[in-house]
Amino acid sequence: MISASVGTIGTMVKKAVIPAAGLGTRMLPAAKAVPKEMLPIVDRPTIQYVVDECASTGVNDILLVTSKDKRALEDHFDRHRELEQRLASGGKQALLDSVNELMSRVRIHAVRQQEQRGLGDAVLCAREHVGNEPFLCLLGDAVFSGEPRPAQQLVDVHHELGGSVIGLEEVPLEKVSRYGVIAGKEIRPGVWKIQSLVEKPRPEDAPSRLVIAARYVLSPGVFDCLERTRPGVGGEIQLTDALRTLLETEPVHGVVLGAKRHDIGNPADWLKTNLVFAKARPEVWALLEATVRGLLTRAADVDVVRSPDIL
Ligand code: UTP
Repeated sequence: MISASVGTIGTMVKKAVIPAAGLGTRMLPAAKAVPKEMLPIVDRPTIQYVVDECASTGVNDILLVTSKDKRALEDHFDRHRELEQRLASGGKQALLDSVNELMSRVRIHAVRQQEQRGLGDAVLCAREHVGNEPFLCLLGDAVFSGEPRPAQQLVDVHHELGGSVIGLEEVPLEKVSRYGVIAGKEIRPGVWKIQSLVEKPRPEDAPSRLVIAARYVLSPGVFDCLERTRPGVGGEIQLTDALRTLLETEPVHGVVLGAKRHDIGNPADWLKTNLVFAKARPEVWALLEATVRGLLTRAADVDVVRSPDIL
């Protein structure tokens, strides 16, 4: 648990919420029966990296927002006695640790979003579990490489300034229409006092190139705002719209994240993320490097399985 030391403004952040109930249509057909958050990055499901980010920040009470079709997310963090016994008796301690070590550091809870009405609605499902405290919110389909880890960076700024803190990333203008975009005033390098937010604007309407990057510390005041939020872009209840309402009564800050964001919500980004994380694992990269270099330099010699639509 992270404790706020004397002289800090924000309160302790003890809980994290991971919305992971979305339909994942951009990852179909892969995500039809397997939740996209369960798709692997190298050798472990995406959700495991997200939970590990919370645990490394000392926030170990974690609520997964799932749906009736996404039981695998909860199951992944449940004990599997038979598997454990097999691995232990087979002397496969490293594999056993890869399954159990993280689980020993966290308490995983789950709540179901009944209907996929958008990210804002998913966050609202966490109200009862979270109560009247600030909480971390980490989207289950985005991971980060590098330091500092976003959850830690946001918690640190929350302790210093209080209130809600949004992770930000600067993107090229042509990409702003994929994200929530902020307008604000930079109060020191990388830290912004947010004045407005807009979800998925056209590039010509975007107030900046600073976009919301899948990580937040949210004040509990956001729940009342979400209750009042009507469907917005795409007919979904947008968290960004609720945060714009929150701004009317509470300060909201943004901090440019030092780590690099990687999405797994569409096939090309999922593959890119796998390559980036594979390269960071010498034992894996040693087995892959020749193939990757071969694809780049000897394209005509490499067997290519042609797949019509996806890439
Ligand atoms: P996305 O915006 O990627 O939406 O959600 P999606 O519905 O999962 O995917 P597409 O657009 O159909 O391909 C960002 C995060 O918010 C969660 C998702 O699971 C993902 O981790 N989410 C989204 C919910 O929990 N509930 C929702 O209703 C929507």
